[in-house]
Amino acid sequence: MTDTLTLRRPDDWHLHLRDGAMLDGILPESARHFARAIVMPNLVPPVVTARQAAAYRERILKALPEGMVFTPLMTLYLTEETDPEDVTAAFANGFAQAVKLYPAGATTNSASGVQDFQKVRPVLDAMADIGMPLCVHGEVTDPTVDIFDREAVFIDRVLEPLRRATPGLRVVMEHITTQEGVGYVRSAAKGLGATITTHHLIINRNHILVGGIRPHYYCLPVAKREIHRQALREAATSGDVRFFLGTDSAPHIDALKEAACGCAGCFTATNTLSILAHVFEEMGRLDRLEGFTSLHGPAFYGLPPNETTITLRKGGPVAYPAKIETGAGPVTVFDAGFPLHWHVE
Ligand code: NCD
Ligand code: ZN
Repeated sequence: MTDTLTLRRPDDWHLHLRDGAMLDGILPESARHFARAIVMPNLVPPVVTARQAAAYRERILKALPEGMVFTPLMTLYLTEETDPEDVTAAFANGFAQAVKLYPAGATTNSASGVQDFQKVRPVLDAMADIGMPLCVHGEVTDPTVDIFDREAVFIDRVLEPLRRATPGLRVVMEHITTQEGVGYVRSAAKGLGATITTHHLIINRNHILVGGIRPHYYCLPVAKREIHRQALREAATSGDVRFFLGTDSAPHIDALKEAACGCAGCFTATNTLSILAHVFEEMGRLDRLEGFTSLHGPAFYGLPPNETTITLRKGGPVAYPAKIETGAGPVTVFDAGFPLHWHVE
């Protein structure tokens, strides 16, 4: 029986680090285990320009505790006013690795997102020319579409037409939650990858709603039926290089989660690797964990995998804090609902 696992150091290809006191409190939770992360730009106001991305990157590096090594990979929030030249310069200078597309109103802090996709055509064309990835929040915002169908409808109404119109564009379908998402990625000839979160491998919609509303399991895209969770587990552990880890760890203080209108987001940075090892072991595919956490993402982004390693060891129950105390308030750590046994050394 395998009880020790050494992996190239993982990266997180979709992470929310926030800003200010929240950033100070939660950054160590990712930097402890991850070498790099694609950092989401949905601050208030959003990170739209190369200059804003560079300034945010500096704030992240300044918040990093002594002795921790962590490289933030920045993203630009796509708006209808985004300047293609600013985007291409940011990519060339290394100030931004990707552009993030939020349909307006789809999720937390997405009010400045895109409504009219024609208006962002020049940016997308420029990105296709230089090979800069577009990270997509794949949900329609049409109020007549049921929230559980919004990802599948997005693929047909938005993503497929967008990829047809810009064939060279490299796209990451972020945090996929459905068998339709998995199937769409598998059907693409090239230039399409997908991130899968930790929590979507653990919870289905029953976890959110049965026996009372569990606000800490509410995120967007919302967890779907069990059949979809099974499809995600199969994809993540399949060894297919098009699927890689993006935790979408998205901290909100408890006061904003445990509220009449609670914010979307699960905070998983603290215990993600222990949870993933558990899932891959359950699937009998521990040998494929390194691909998912440490190899497929760099390959998609055209970056070398990390040279350093981490070791996971199986033992007694893993102790992790129920909450991370930040200067902004406490943030509840995702509860897998069962004891974890894989320790990160
Ligand atoms: C994210 C957040 O809180 O910023 N929330 C979430 O539920 N995932 C936004 C996002 O990635 O959709
Ligand atoms: Zn996110």
